[in-house]
Amino acid sequence: MSFAAAKLFDWLQGADFYHAAHRAAVEQLPPGGGKLWVDVGCGPGLVTRLAAARGYRAIGVDRDRHMIAAAQRRAARAASAAAFQIGDIDGLAAMPARADVISAASLLAVVDDPAAALTALLAAVKPGGCVLVIEPTAAMTPAAADTLIGHGLGGKRVNGLRLWARARHGRAINPDLFDMARANAVHYAPVLAGLLGVWMLRTAAAQ
Ligand SMILES: C[S@@+](CC[C@H](N)C(=O)[O-])C[C@H]1O[C@@H](n2cnc3c(N)ncnc32)[C@H](O)[C@@H]1O
Repeated sequence: MSFAAAKLFDWLQGADFYHAAHRAAVEQLPPGGGKLWVDVGCGPGLVTRLAAARGYRAIGVDRDRHMIAAAQRRAARAASAAAFQIGDIDGLAAMPARADVISAASLLAVVDDPAAALTALLAAVKPGGCVLVIEPTAAMTPAAADTLIGHGLGGKRVNGLRLWARARHGRAINPDLFDMARANAVHYAPVLAGLLGVWMLRTAAAQ
């Protein structure tokens, strides 16, 4: 990624539809009450800020320093309590404490080995905790974006949906990944008319 990619994702995260869809995803989980939420591959930090607003102690992690700089700027402007640090999925095992929630939004589709990444995310969450995966589905096509906009989806930067759909068309993750994951329960919720999927993977509670 690069400075240009950080600018692009900062722009996209400011779109009304993108914000609303990710807020709906974060609201699948109950208010945080100070529990630890780590947002991996946070980009400019939208999901991290939404988690902080929901009452979690939210930390965004991304391996790209431009993304972290953008996230820190956005959080400061929004007076968000979200914190950010440079880091990689591979470094999660070294975290001082396991998280109550780990989120990964539009991350698994960009890593070399999604199954290994998901295993690392699950290992970094507490027993009884949750991994929240947010990903465009196979329904995210340019035609579907046009249809949604044609049916009245509006708001700031709605053309970002066309851009996003073009970029992600044919690159949806395979949901079989979640059946193979070492999780106790998997719950699925569609958002953005099913163009975006939210998978909640719960790990087994401690005995
Ligand atoms: C497609 S962007 C998604 C950004 C944001 N989560 C969103 O949904 O708008 C993917 C992000 O994951 C980050 N990333 C990719 N591989 C990573 C890894 N192995 N560890 C940490 N971050 C990673 C990239 O730097 C980028 O910011």
